[in-house]
Amino acid sequence: MDLKNLHVLQQLMDLSQDCFLVPGPVRMGQPCLNALSTPVMTARGPEFRDVMAHLNSGLRNAFNLAPSEPVRGVQSWSGDDDYKVVVVSGSGTAAMEMVIANRFRSNDLVLVPTNGKFGERVAEMCQRFCNVKHLKYEWGRAFDLYELERQLERGCYESLLICHNETSTGITQDAAAIAEMCARHNTSFILDGITSVGGMPVHPTEWKAEAVVVGAQKCTAGPSGIAAIAINSNFIERVHAIRDQGDSNPNYYLDLVAALKKGGDDQTPWTPAINLAMGWGAALDVLKNESNKVRWDRCETMANGVRNLFLDLGFELLADAEQRSSTVTSILYPEGIDDAWRARLKEEFNTQVIGAQDHLKGKMFRIGSMGETPISEMVEGCKRMIECFTQFGMELPKVDVESYFK
Ligand SMILES: Cc1ncc(COP(=O)(O)O)c(C=O)c1O
Repeated sequence: MDLKNLHVLQQLMDLSQDCFLVPGPVRMGQPCLNALSTPVMTARGPEFRDVMAHLNSGLRNAFNLAPSEPVRGVQSWSGDDDYKVVVVSGSGTAAMEMVIANRFRSNDLVLVPTNGKFGERVAEMCQRFCNVKHLKYEWGRAFDLYELERQLERGCYESLLICHNETSTGITQDAAAIAEMCARHNTSFILDGITSVGGMPVHPTEWKAEAVVVGAQKCTAGPSGIAAIAINSNFIERVHAIRDQGDSNPNYYLDLVAALKKGGDDQTPWTPAINLAMGWGAALDVLKNESNKVRWDRCETMANGVRNLFLDLGFELLADAEQRSSTVTSILYPEGIDDAWRARLKEEFNTQVIGAQDHLKGKMFRIGSMGETPISEMVEGCKRMIECFTQFGMELPKVDVESYFK
């Protein structure tokens, strides 16, 4: 677009505020940014143990677990249920690796159904530590629950692992149905909840999930580089038993036995990610003040609006209709349009969405509806996306964007 047109457009739309609509890392709010810049403290003193207690308590809320007091020395990592939370220095992948490396022996067999990149990553990670039956579905297609049931009936699986919300394709698995099947077949159930925890209903206790993983930079709007797991007593017992039998997979930094030794004392085995822990604790306070339910509903309102708007505009969505995610929406580019659109959206409309991965690169874009993003930012971002598509020569029907987000 030439500069004259850009100037006219800028008068029509106020482009001074950026719209950051990606499925993580998401924008951090001011309380989180302020906490991140707290002056240094020692890793072992009471100050940091206060930080950990506060973080543990915020995490229990985000994981939808029973509450705990955000106070040092009162077992803030546990509550009136069967779960403990453990903070991991590293991104979500590190936390997932901690779960897998510690929970399985090299001769265990696990079942991993997948329909996108992050599920496939779970399967790949498992392959490093145990045996895997990988049920690979097309990206964006729902799992065949009948096939999962047939597999579980074989009675040979130690565990079933899923990526709960598949960020690469915008599909959310039917976790309740899978959990019920796992319970019936006495198979442990483990979830990568990296883009579901804090953004949509997650019920570790009802689902009897042995482990759920979250990454800070997604639905909880914390900083990148810190993550956490929620694990139940079956999981913990199994980890100890495997270790006592001398049967565990090699690992050191991500040793859960070491983390469990320190957790009850609001400590970590190695130098913790001190400032990230402070930042995340503040972001989790924001979530707690909003309440899980209100945040889940806001994410759902935004995703619903995006889905209906783009469908009415004539676009196609990748994910199966019944299981579309409320934290990320994957929209296929129409014929003749590719990531050049996304580049212009960023450069000229001060608006960011994300592209696709692997074989879908250049064929679709993804809009994140998670974290603290206000609905007004999503409305504004969608208006800019429509204007940018128009500039790429598309003739789109006239729509009242606001009406989709009521
Ligand atoms: C569902 C899911 N799992 C795992 C990951 C990897 O997490 P991280 O990049 O924090 O290691 C991501 C990142 O986008 C994700 O969305």
